[in-house]
This record gives sequence, structure tokens and C-alpha cells, in this order.
Amino acid sequence: MTNVLVTGGAGSIGSYVCEYLVARGENVIALDNGPSLKVEHLFDSGRFSFVQDSVLNKDMIERLVDKVDVVIHLAAIADPKRYVTEPLNVLNVNLKGSLYLLDRCASQKKKFIFASTSEVLGRNPKVPWNEDADRVLGPPSINRWCYSTGKALIEHYCYAYGQQESLPFVIMRFFNVYGPRCDDLGQGRVIPIFLEKFLKGEPVVVHGDGKQTRCFTFIEDTANAVVELSLNPKAQGMCFNVGSDRETSILELAENMKRVGGFANELVFKPHLEIFGKSYEDIPRRIPDVGRIKEVIGWQATTELEDGLKRTIDFYRPTASASVTGR
Ligand SMILES: NC(=O)c1ccc[n+]([C@@H]2O[C@H](COP(=O)([O-])OP(=O)(O)OC[C@H]3O[C@@H](n4cnc5c(N)ncnc54)[C@H](O)[C@@H]3O)[C@@H](O)[C@H]2O)c1
Repeated sequence: MTNVLVTGGAGSIGSYVCEYLVARGENVIALDNGPSLKVEHLFDSGRFSFVQDSVLNKDMIERLVDKVDVVIHLAAIADPKRYVTEPLNVLNVNLKGSLYLLDRCASQKKKFIFASTSEVLGRNPKVPWNEDADRVLGPPSINRWCYSTGKALIEHYCYAYGQQESLPFVIMRFFNVYGPRCDDLGQGRVIPIFLEKFLKGEPVVVHGDGKQTRCFTFIEDTANAVVELSLNPKAQGMCFNVGSDRETSILELAENMKRVGGFANELVFKPHLEIFGKSYEDIPRRIPDVGRIKEVIGWQATTELEDGLKRTIDFYRPTASASVTGR
């Protein structure tokens, strides 16, 4: 049995990770400064506890790290709108919080599993991206890059601590995770934003011309990868793309959601500048090379986009009888 601290454990991905770890018989402490709604179904398991606090509370972080064998660090401000409106908070939480955890994991030789992002590669046009692809970013005066840079810096720290202080670590770069229990409707990332409009019968606003592509990865596939990468010794010391390699344009996504959900909404287009202001810049294509994760731990995303979208839409429909809600 492994004792695991999951920061951001009450978040979208974190809540599934906690659930899967508990189901495997591991002991889990979830740390999150948000509400415990998504993990309350684990309270009676006898193997789960929840601490509502911030990763910026250094003393508490040190106490929690000392109690476990593995830290899965998912806590972050990960909402693209906030990169632009609250860059200082994004940098503070994503950098300082991660450093408190890293310092303690390194000094106590605890395994550190870091949730990084496809965003670290910025707008590198040479897709698909393997884990060693170049980072191609805009200038620091553009707030949009603060999230990417903060995550990349923590990746550097993982390698540096690994090399100089023998820190056991794994870096995971997620690609557009979606599914039940994700952001509140209308908030955060593209699928909940589209879905809110679909459910209200309002026009669905596609940003730009809708030709920008993403590889959408179902949350259950992602959480399975996190658990396996965290506990499988073969993954140690490496960085992994965690994603589906099926490329879908944002317009195709909207059309798919419309068809799968049986909606009749109009799709309309709006320039990025009008939505985010000049501090935002969209990435045209973002596709992972998933060869490494398949080779090292035998994982690949198996949920077809249409199935995942159906399950997501069913979860958020007002009639849904979900046992765990993210709303
Ligand atoms: N969802 C994606 O598509 C995606 C893609 C790439 C990377 N990631 C990364 O994966 C991780 C999890 O993402 P998610 O989609 O589950 O996001 P999420 O927002 O649902 O979860 C993050 C959790 O962190 C918590 N948190 C924020 N600030 C905190 C603080 N100061 N102290 C403690 N907890 C704090 C939030 O309350 C939230 O529950 C994040 O690190 C994110 O950067 C996600």
C-alpha cells in the first residue's frame, strides 16, 4: 500500500485520480483550497482524507509531504482566462506552491509527480510534438505565456533536483482533458463553454475561424495514466505526453457536440481579440507524439471523442443523475 498526497485532489483530474487510487487500495490525502464536492463520495472509504488549504502554506505542505511516499502535484490555476486577468496569482500558485513541494520532496526523498501541460511547447508549428520538441513562445510581456513558462520552469526544477539531489520524479504533459466533473458549465475550457450555450439553446461562439485544432483526451483515460505513471517505477525520471493523438478542429468539435447532443443551436464566429483582448494568442495546432508513454507503460487513450462527448453532455444535462457533480 502506498501513501499518496494528491494536490488539487478536489479538482477535475484530481478527483478521478483520488478515486482510482482509493479503489486500488492506496491511502490518499487530497489537498485543495477549493470545495470537496467532487471527492465527498470517498469520505467513507477509510483510505481517504481531505485537507482544505493552499499549496502556498509552506508549513502545512511540509507536514503533509512527510506523511506520504508519493506526491501527485495537480494543484494549479489552469483556467486560460485567468492567465490574462490574474497573471500574478497564476505565477505565485503555479511556481511558489510547486517549489515548496519540490523542496520538501527532494529533502525527504519522496517521489514527485508533476502535472505539466502541452502549453509548455507554446506555438511550435512542427506537430506532432514529442517530449523533446522545442518550446516556441511569445514574449513575457504577453500574459498568455505565464502559465506555460511557470510549468516549464517546474519541469526544469524536476530535472535539476533529479540530477543534483536524486529526486525521484515523473513529468506528465496533459493535452486538453475533458469529461464529467470538469469545469463548471460556461467556465474554463472550450467544452464546458460550448456546452453551456448548447444547453441554454443560445448561439455557440466559435473563436477565430474554428480551424485551430486540439487533441481532446477523456478524463478517465487521463486519470488512469496519472495513476500508472505515479506508481510504475519504469516511468521514473522521465517526461510523458499524456493525450489522445486524434486531431479535431474547434469547429468540428462544436459540430460533433451538436450532433451527439441532438442540439439545434446556431454556430457563430468571433475573433480572439474581441474575446480575450490583445494579451491572448491562440495556438493553431497541438498534437502529441504518444510513442513514449505507449512504449514505457503501455498506455494509450482509448475513449473515442464521440463517446466521451456523449458521457460529458449526459453528465451536465439538467436531467442527469450524476452521483458526483462538478456544478
Ligand atoms: N485539464 C486540462 O486540459 C489540463 C491540461 C494541461 C495541464 N493540466 C494541469 O493538470 C492539473 C489539474 O488540472 P484540472 O483540469 O484538474 O484543473 P482543476 O482546476 O479542475 O483542478 C485544479 C485544482 O487545484 C486547486 N487549486 C488551485 N489553486 C490552489 C492552491 N493555491 N492550493 C491548493 N489547491 C489549489 C483548485 O481548487 C482545483 O481543484 C493542473 O496542474 C493543470 O495545470 C490540465
